Amino acid sequence: MDKGINRRTLGVLAAGGAIGVGLGGCDRAGKTEVAIKSRQFPGDFVWGVATAAFQTEGSPTADGRGPSIWDTFEKQPGRIKDGSNADLATDSYRRYAEDVDLISGAGLKAFRFSMAWSRVLPTGAGTVNTAGLDHYDRLVDACLAKGVTPYATLFHWDLPQALQDKGGWSARDTAHSFADYAAAVAARLGDRLKHFITLNEPAVHTVFGHVLGEHAPGLKDIALLGPTTHHMNLGQGLAIQALRAAHGDLTIGTTQALQPCRQAGGGLAFWNRPAAQGLDALWNRAWLDPLLKGTYPSLMEDFLKGHVRDGDLATIRQPIDFLGVNYYAPAYVKLDLKSASHIAPGAPPQGGELDAFGRQIDPSGLGQVLEMVRRDYGNPRVLITENGCSDPFGNGPGVIDDGFRSQYLRRHLEAVKGAMEAGSRIGGYFTWTLIDNWEWDIGYTSKFGLVAMDRATGVRTPKASYAWFKGLAQSGTLPLTP
Ligand code: FCB
Repeated sequence: MDKGINRRTLGVLAAGGAIGVGLGGCDRAGKTEVAIKSRQFPGDFVWGVATAAFQTEGSPTADGRGPSIWDTFEKQPGRIKDGSNADLATDSYRRYAEDVDLISGAGLKAFRFSMAWSRVLPTGAGTVNTAGLDHYDRLVDACLAKGVTPYATLFHWDLPQALQDKGGWSARDTAHSFADYAAAVAARLGDRLKHFITLNEPAVHTVFGHVLGEHAPGLKDIALLGPTTHHMNLGQGLAIQALRAAHGDLTIGTTQALQPCRQAGGGLAFWNRPAAQGLDALWNRAWLDPLLKGTYPSLMEDFLKGHVRDGDLATIRQPIDFLGVNYYAPAYVKLDLKSASHIAPGAPPQGGELDAFGRQIDPSGLGQVLEMVRRDYGNPRVLITENGCSDPFGNGPGVIDDGFRSQYLRRHLEAVKGAMEAGSRIGGYFTWTLIDNWEWDIGYTSKFGLVAMDRATGVRTPKASYAWFKGLAQSGTLPLTP
């Protein structure tokens, strides 16, 4: 892929950065809404929030935690937009009980958090750090005491640095270490922690961490695409086996960053179609196909050559209890014969809306990926494990009127409801995120939270969207406004 793509440009290239053809197309602003028959969600629909360890915990050396690749990356000059690091983040390692209170206070029944592998195994493998697991033990108990179901993601991009030093996910051994880590977590917590998510958005970790160099570990090598993809898939399969061997009653899923891959320029720009198909293969289908069909997309074959061994595809194709879908925006791509992959970011239709992160707001894209899952993958049970937006509001204490966020959530939940009415088996929705946090390579410059935090004092202030989401979670009825 061409360099110059970042997580925002993958979703959208705003005017100025755009190089695409922009002839119009099927997704102009005004056609992004989704019509629904009823605004009532089922009574057992799961409402929750999602967070990630590195973006929230802080306390990077507490209780024997080992360094992860993000600890290394954030210290390299120029890597993080505002020059910050995540040493404080939302201070949730220390203030986790306040977080759980905020979640239960919003009437939410589920908390998706991730575990830092290097707290459990400081060098990624070998001796388990009991003190690190103690933290997650306390967190799980705090959730259960408040009637909040914990959903633990095992890998949300913070690989132990010691494993990266041996090749990270491009090395096959990492897949086995991941399964050992999963087994250690299940052995200690599986009596109370019943919901697991193996990987978070492995496409983002692979492409942005290994091909584009914008995320840790900061590598830029298209040759890593195949092995990293395959070993993450393999590690997931082995981890699911290990979890099920430890406890037979777990609910296990994976979380994928699904994006409709659209040709820049719309229907007339047919020359961009191969680029859209190529991105769809490596971004969506390289993860869904092996898990749900036992094959890789043929477009991935050259990348994977020499890495897939006999039996691997059977290991990867484990039954799952739900597919986690993260959705933020569609991707627009164009053909670029000068880049190694022949794929480059393209412009979305003009006149669309953007959030403060620069992503296009287009709920119809969520409907589109849910339709793809329903149509192409046998309609598995789905949880929306992330959806949300960055907005410019919420720098300090006081009432923060982030109606922008509530409106974003309302419109995307219409897309979720529309997909359910069309037959998708969607059981829950976790918004991203609880508290404004440390957003990877852009540091503290984005605000995705229902709650603001004063980093000097740690004081948390719920925003207007917190009350809006609470009303929804309590009634199960999607409001007509904002
Ligand atoms: C998702 C990531 C999450 C956060 C949100 C904004 O892609 O999973 O950690 O960065 O985007």
